[in-house]
Amino acid sequence: MKLRKIITIIGARPQFVKASVLSALFQKSRELEEIIIHTGQHYDKAMSELFFDQLGIPRPKYNLGIGGGSHGENTGRMIEAIEKILLSEKPDAVLVYGDTDSTLAGTIAASKLYIPICHVEAGLRSFNNRMPEEINRVLTDRVSSLLFAPTVLAEKNLLSEGLPRPAIKLVGDVMFDAVLNYSVIAAEKSKILETVQVNPDEYILCTIHRPVNTDSVTNLAAIFDALKTTQTIVFPVHPRTKKIIEQNAIAVSDNIRLIDPVGYLDMLNLEKNAQLIITDSGGVQKEAFFQKKYCITLREETEWQELVEIGVNTLIGFEYHKLKNIFENGLPQFAYESKNAFLYGDGNAGAKIIDAIVDFLNKQ
Ligand code: UD1
Ligand code: UDP
Repeated sequence: MKLRKIITIIGARPQFVKASVLSALFQKSRELEEIIIHTGQHYDKAMSELFFDQLGIPRPKYNLGIGGGSHGENTGRMIEAIEKILLSEKPDAVLVYGDTDSTLAGTIAASKLYIPICHVEAGLRSFNNRMPEEINRVLTDRVSSLLFAPTVLAEKNLLSEGLPRPAIKLVGDVMFDAVLNYSVIAAEKSKILETVQVNPDEYILCTIHRPVNTDSVTNLAAIFDALKTTQTIVFPVHPRTKKIIEQNAIAVSDNIRLIDPVGYLDMLNLEKNAQLIITDSGGVQKEAFFQKKYCITLREETEWQELVEIGVNTLIGFEYHKLKNIFENGLPQFAYESKNAFLYGDGNAGAKIIDAIVDFLNKQ
């Protein structure tokens, strides 16, 4: 049978983690061949290359080198560059992940050329249009031919927006597949605890990068003030956050170990051995659950609402001072319930996605 050509468009850190699952399956597939376009949205070694190296993701055939600009500038330049590649490569389908500006650029370029779009992590909603990601994901879902929903709630959101039932595939979450794929090797290989000089169960892990928390200096300073406690906090710093800390000389107390962004294996190990996770990251909220760690989320809403409902994630929004109470009154503990084991699928989301793409293309 003729190999079908899939063009994957990725550009930001969480997309490399998600792509590691599917790219490994594409490499084994007899029906599909994958070509990767890296938009360049994330470009530091620790935000990009490290993931390709560690997770065995094939080198992108195209690297557009478009990053560091505003939303409009990045997205516009990406659309133009992606369109040229799609015209010359003539893929059978385009695969996009999540909700970044790279996702939207790939979606717009492909949809205008009538190339079917497969959206992995479809149906997530914060219902907050002030998040750039909400715009990106709503628009992408609207024109995708295959909508891979990671959760029941995501499937429900798509149906309630009137998207066609046959296009929606509830497959589970590829980030769960990734954690299962890499946890053992992370435990064996990662030396991050020694590097940071912390013991298991003696530190809190924190990551912050959302514009609502970083773009207001007042908010970011208030977060660091609230993190001033007797507990050790390990904090891998996203470049966006780093820039704002440095430009505004935000005070960082001695209990906080600011470190460069870490690779995925180190991150899994930091999560696994933490007492508690504090974050505004979408991916890290889920990984906290996979690693059975309680999560405090510095956002007012979450796309992963099921975690709040089962009582393993608390949203504290902008009420950062609540962290002080949490530190003083004993850290919340994760309560595992086996009925929640399959909230994000059975660890085979990737294989289900590949099968659905093959099936879809065979019917075209
Ligand atoms: C992007 C995504 C967000 C995702 C996050 C994952 C959008 C709209 N946002 O946010 O959904 O949660 O990635 O990490 O697509 N920078 C560097 N080096 C890098 C990357 C970024 O210095 O390797 C700095 C640049 O100053 C850049 C800024 O960070 O302008 C923001 O980067 P950008 O990709 O626009 O947004 P993120 O906050 O990373
Ligand atoms: N991550 C990582 N190193 C870090 C911070 C995060 O490997 O220093 C991983 C994390 O384990 C998860 C993904 O990056 O798999 C989440 O990405 P991020 O928080 O940047 O974006 P979001 O998920 O919020 O879109």
